[in-house]
Amino acid sequence: MAPLNESLAQTAQALVAPGKGILAADESHPTIKKRFDKLGIANTEENRRAYRDMLFSTPAISNHISGVILYDETIRQKHSSGTPFPKFLAQNGIIRGIKVDEGTIALANFPGEKVTEGLDGLGKRFAEYAQLGARFAKWRAVFTITDTTPSDYCIRSNAHLLARYAAIAQEAGIVPIVEPEVLRDGNHDINRCYDVIDRVLNEVFRELHDHRIQLEGILLKPSMVTAGEGAPEASVEQVAELTLRCLRNTVPPAVPGIVFLSGGQTSEAATKHLDAMNKIGEVPWRLSFSYGRALQDDPMHTWMGKPENIKAAQKAFARRAELNSLATSGKYAGE
Ligand code: 13P
Repeated sequence: MAPLNESLAQTAQALVAPGKGILAADESHPTIKKRFDKLGIANTEENRRAYRDMLFSTPAISNHISGVILYDETIRQKHSSGTPFPKFLAQNGIIRGIKVDEGTIALANFPGEKVTEGLDGLGKRFAEYAQLGARFAKWRAVFTITDTTPSDYCIRSNAHLLARYAAIAQEAGIVPIVEPEVLRDGNHDINRCYDVIDRVLNEVFRELHDHRIQLEGILLKPSMVTAGEGAPEASVEQVAELTLRCLRNTVPPAVPGIVFLSGGQTSEAATKHLDAMNKIGEVPWRLSFSYGRALQDDPMHTWMGKPENIKAAQKAFARRAELNSLATSGKYAGE
């Protein structure tokens, strides 16, 4: 038995401190381009910086946000005051995270399935990111539900990579967020989603165990158990009940926190689902959020790339952060 790494455990716990969750602001250039394009915002380096500047400068945001996941470009950029973003965030009580996977490619011989890249040189990259102030990281694996996917091989490969990444992160003193995302695309029902997430999480925790990962020093970032986007929606209660049942069957209690991704749910649905789970309660982990779109859709639509909209956009962001904060203790009472 290896001695407990207290520092990893403390960082992981701080990220899921009561009433707090994570802002995922780590969109790669192609992803933020997709979001900006829809609103007619030019995808320039300065616009990406100005947008994140707006989010990070939101007054008192650390009341509800514990940490922010950054992209490689952002961790090297500066706040408008001239202070590097990582230092600015630290001064404002926010823990710095970094996305370290390098995106997905097609999984050879498995049509329609994907595998995540980014392990090469990861130890060295972690050393640099740690110097830049990063205390936690994220790696995302993606699974698609069809009648024949995900295949066992796709699940095994991605689970192995997630665990290798987690081992290298912990070796560098960085808390790994382990993100196996099961996409909502498709018209499968909620039971099929349950079965897929159950298979994925079982394999992920088997690999984490094989890699001797200290579970006290990780966070899990899963999808919620929902019906496919093209199928009739399940009720909020059903999503909450089946997600909790799936997690109870697969996630060891040593994991300090589960921080959901929003995965293209509406902002309101993501908040409602988290709230409904916390209303049920009685789980061994803290249940919180690591949302991208569900925190950013409102402020991005308000900002629109215009300096005169900054204050209103920050208000919209602070509101979503506060509603999700309430949801972490089952105290959300509607919009
Ligand atoms: P969404 O909440 O928009 O799904 O983004 C979370 C994330 O970090 C995906 O990797």
